Amino acid sequence: MVDAGVVVRDLQDMRDEGHLSDALLRKAVRSIKSADDRYDWVGVYLVGEGEELWLHNYVGEPTEHAKIPFGTGVCGRAVAQRRNFNVKDVSKEENYLACSPDTKSELVILIRAGDQIYGEIDVDSETLAAFTEEDEIALISIADKLAEQFAAERR
Ligand code: SME
Repeated sequence: MVDAGVVVRDLQDMRDEGHLSDALLRKAVRSIKSADDRYDWVGVYLVGEGEELWLHNYVGEPTEHAKIPFGTGVCGRAVAQRRNFNVKDVSKEENYLACSPDTKSELVILIRAGDQIYGEIDVDSETLAAFTEEDEIALISIADKLAEQFAAERR
């Protein structure tokens, strides 16, 4: 599992050095991806103009889902319904966008500060029901740190 305490500290160090959200997002994705073999694809989608998510950066196989309308797939539903998703078995989802035929489970954690949603962390796994509540808690604290930076930049 990813050690959220270490990642959050690294992100704070970057903030102290003056790095902005762009660099923090790339660091977070790389830190999460390298932390656990169950995390086969890790990326960040950001909320764009016109009710659409766009893929900021990722580690894993290339995906054709660089843009996702709100409400579409797990990623689009997370932002539309303003909640995180821990999908144990993606084959049981009707509204799902397949990134890779090998993906079995998916975790989507919103990057949010209060009512404001900036984007989301998306993790795919080739293991069924790969993500535990501990994974969710860890990714929420990383997402919250990213949201803190977004909020500071947009004040
Ligand atoms: N599976 C996601 C799409 C993103 S790819 O997995 C990278 C979804 O259903 O929204």
